[in-house]
Amino acid sequence: MKFQAIKGVRDILPPESALWNRVEQAAREVFATYGYGEIRLPIFEATELFARSIGADTDVVAKEMYSFEDRDDTSVTLRPEATASGVRAYIEHGMQTRPGNVRLYYMGPMFRRERPQKGRYRQFYQIGVELLGPSDHPALDAEVIEMLLTFFERVGLKGTALNINSIGDKECRPKYVEQLRDALQKVRDKLGPDSQRRIETNPLRVLDSKLPEEQPIIEKLPRIAEHLCDACRDHYAELKRQLALRGIAYQENWRLVRGLDYYMRTTFEVTAPGLGSQDAVCGGGRYDGLVELLGGPAGTKGIGFAIGTDRVILSLEQARQTAGGQASGATAQGGIEVYLAWLGAAAYPAAVALAQKLRRQGISVEMPAAEMKFGKSLNLADRLGARYAVILGEEELAAKQFTVKRLADGDQKKLSESDLLTYLLPRTQ
Ligand code: HAM
Repeated sequence: MKFQAIKGVRDILPPESALWNRVEQAAREVFATYGYGEIRLPIFEATELFARSIGADTDVVAKEMYSFEDRDDTSVTLRPEATASGVRAYIEHGMQTRPGNVRLYYMGPMFRRERPQKGRYRQFYQIGVELLGPSDHPALDAEVIEMLLTFFERVGLKGTALNINSIGDKECRPKYVEQLRDALQKVRDKLGPDSQRRIETNPLRVLDSKLPEEQPIIEKLPRIAEHLCDACRDHYAELKRQLALRGIAYQENWRLVRGLDYYMRTTFEVTAPGLGSQDAVCGGGRYDGLVELLGGPAGTKGIGFAIGTDRVILSLEQARQTAGGQASGATAQGGIEVYLAWLGAAAYPAAVALAQKLRRQGISVEMPAAEMKFGKSLNLADRLGARYAVILGEEELAAKQFTVKRLADGDQKKLSESDLLTYLLPRTQ
C-alpha cells in the first residue's frame, strides 16, 4: 500500500518553507510594532464553541467542520478558525483586567472540509490578530487595517485591493435582514436552490452568491448602508475618515457580509492578484457582541482579521514567476553555502571539526557521511546548489590548508583555516 496525503491536505517542502518562514517572521515583526503579542491556541476545542460563535447556519459550521466524539463522548472539533478560541482564551484567563485593549496574534493551521481547488485547502494556514477590550473606536478598526497593509507591503505583496463595509449592529441589522428577506421572497423562484434555502436560514449570505444569473437580481435588493442606525452610520463614516487620514485606499462593497455570524459594523477583505477565484488573502471585521455571547464581561468589544497564508505565498510565487525573478540568497532557494568534500580516514576528523566551526559561525555546511571520491563530491555540491566546495584531502592535511572552490566560476585557492573563515564569512552573509 502506498500512502498519500489525504485530499485537500498538503506538505510544504523546502525550499518553499523558507518563504513561509519569512512571511511569518514579517508578521511577527510588524505586529510587534503595533503592540501585539503572540497567543498560542489549541488546535481543537469543544464543538459547541464554534457552533455558538460562528453560527449554526453558516457553511463553516453546517458543512465544513471536522468534528468527532472524544473517548469521553464529548464532541470536539479541529478549529475552522481561531477568533472563537481567542475569545474563549480572553474570557478564561480574565484578560479584561489587563490595561487597555488586549492585542493578540496567532498563526497556524485551520481545518475546513471545503471542495479543494487552487488556493483552497482542507488544512490551510492563517496568520490572525484579535484586538479585545472596552473601546470600539473606529480609529482601532483603521489601525488594524493599516497594520495589515503594512504587513502586505513588508512581504512585497503587490496589487492588493481593500474592500470595506458596515453590516450594522443588533439595533439595525435585524430590521434590515427582515426587509431583505421580504425582498428575496418576492424573487424566490428566480433564485438557485442555495439562495432559496438561505432566504430562511441566513438571507445576508445570498449577497455572497457568485452565480451569474443571480447577479442582476441581487443588485436590486435593499442595501444595508441605507438602513444603518445613527450610531452605526457615524461609526462607518469615522472609519472612512480614519482610513483617509492614514492614506489608505479602499473600495466600499455593500455585499461584503462575510460568512461568519459574529460580525457587526465593520467588515473588510483584501484581495490579491494571481489567485483565480479564491483571491481573498485576508478577511476580518468587528465582533463586539461575541465576548458576551460566550459568557464574558458585557460590553467587551473586538475586532480582528485573519490572513490566508497559503494564498499570500501563492500570490508571491506567482508574481515572482511572472517577473522571471529569483529568491535572493542561497538558503532562500534551499541551497547550502559550503559543501565540505573530504577524502581519506585521516582527513575525516579534521573535516568534522571544520564543519563544526563553520556552522557555529552561521555558515551552512553539508559533507558526505562516508568517504566519497572528490569528483562525485563536487558534482553533488553543484547539484545541491552550494556556493563553495571546501576540499580536504591528504595533501591539504599535510600542508595544514584547505582548498576552497567557488562553484559559480571555478575560482580556486588554498587557505589556512583562519584565512578560510575570513574568506567565507563576508561572502555567505
Ligand atoms: P475567513 O474569511 O473565514 O475569516 O478566513 C480568513 C482568510 O483565511 C480568508 O480570506 C482566506 O485567505 C483564508 N482561508 C479561508 N478558508 C480557506 C481555505 N479553505 N483554504 C485556504 N485559505 C483559506 C476568519 O477565519 C476570521 N476568523 C477572521 C477574523 C479574525 N475576523 C475577526 N478576527
